[in-house]
Amino acid sequence: MPLDTLAILGAGTMGANIALDLAAHGRTVRLCDPRPEQLETARALIRANAEALRAHGLLEASADDVLARVRFTSKRDEAIAGAELILEAVPERLDLKRALYAELEAAVSPDVILASNTSTFMPTALAEGLRHPERLLVAHYWNPAHLLPLVELVPHAGTRADVLARVETLLRACGKQPVVLRKEVPGFIGNRLAFALQREAMDLVAKGVATPEEIDAVVRGCFGRRVPVTGIFGTADLGGLDVYAAICDSIFPGLCADRSAPEVLTRLVEQGRLGVKTGAGWRDYAPQEAEALRAALGEALIRSAKQDREARA
Ligand SMILES: NC(=O)c1ccc[n+]([C@@H]2O[C@H](COP(=O)([O-])OP(=O)(O)OC[C@H]3O[C@@H](n4cnc5c(N)ncnc54)[C@H](O)[C@@H]3O)[C@@H](O)[C@H]2O)c1
Repeated sequence: MPLDTLAILGAGTMGANIALDLAAHGRTVRLCDPRPEQLETARALIRANAEALRAHGLLEASADDVLARVRFTSKRDEAIAGAELILEAVPERLDLKRALYAELEAAVSPDVILASNTSTFMPTALAEGLRHPERLLVAHYWNPAHLLPLVELVPHAGTRADVLARVETLLRACGKQPVVLRKEVPGFIGNRLAFALQREAMDLVAKGVATPEEIDAVVRGCFGRRVPVTGIFGTADLGGLDVYAAICDSIFPGLCADRSAPEVLTRLVEQGRLGVKTGAGWRDYAPQEAEALRAALGEALIRSAKQDREARA
């Protein structure tokens, strides 16, 4: 049975663009947030992003047509009535998510699928206390959800196979490239890999080996160019696994093994250097520099989305 009517709870960074993506692919979406002003921000974001997609030939429908498929509401009951799938994109707090599921279970039938966009929590932890845990799984979109194709699908041991299959079918129909994890692990795959790199990069800064700018120059100039083409394991296969084994033996003992956020990062946070949103992070940003960085990323992601579309055609 296809999933056509979907409720998204949380209209923040993720919820709004997930709603755009689903509506752009013909689904009926209810987007719910307790803060009416956030719903208006989401509406404006969906319009702007839909117009940008259309301008680049990535969307045939008009922004008005897309918005016509999204009902914006601060009333949860209105959002979930008749929904076949409820995707939760509320803040990353386990207590909040669990309390929400408990309330949802009391309001919807056991057939309704519950999906979480959590970045880190394992589905077993999310499903604890549910009467029907078999209908829950993680569907982890990446930001910006309308441009990045990956969705990590993470079932727990008790998630029903047909629940997973229906969500995977929906995502493929929306042009996504879902990857199903065979076992649940905190942070799933993408964030584990990305943060392994973050940890080592921060350690190199803390040790005074290089500045953040110099480290970014290294990444851009070497494996940053190869990885999109050959991935992690294709890169290793091209390099030679005997060579890779020797490198592992040589450098693994000295790699960073910190088990919490390092001081070099927490110090920046304490200083209010939170990144572009406060005008400074690992470096300072004039407003136009922050904008240029965002625009460069947006253009690159649009280019990749066009390549994906051409490859599918
Ligand atoms: N931001 C990212 O890059 C990113 C990427 C992937 C996954 N995620 C995950 O997605 C989830 C949402 O993240 P975000 O960045 O969109 O957060 P956000 O803070 O931008 O948005 C969360 C929204 O949820 C609303 N909300 C709070 N309680 C609610 C409730 N009971 N019902 C409905 N709405 C409620 C808030 O008003 C807010 O607008 C988190 O679990 C996060 O870890 C975030």
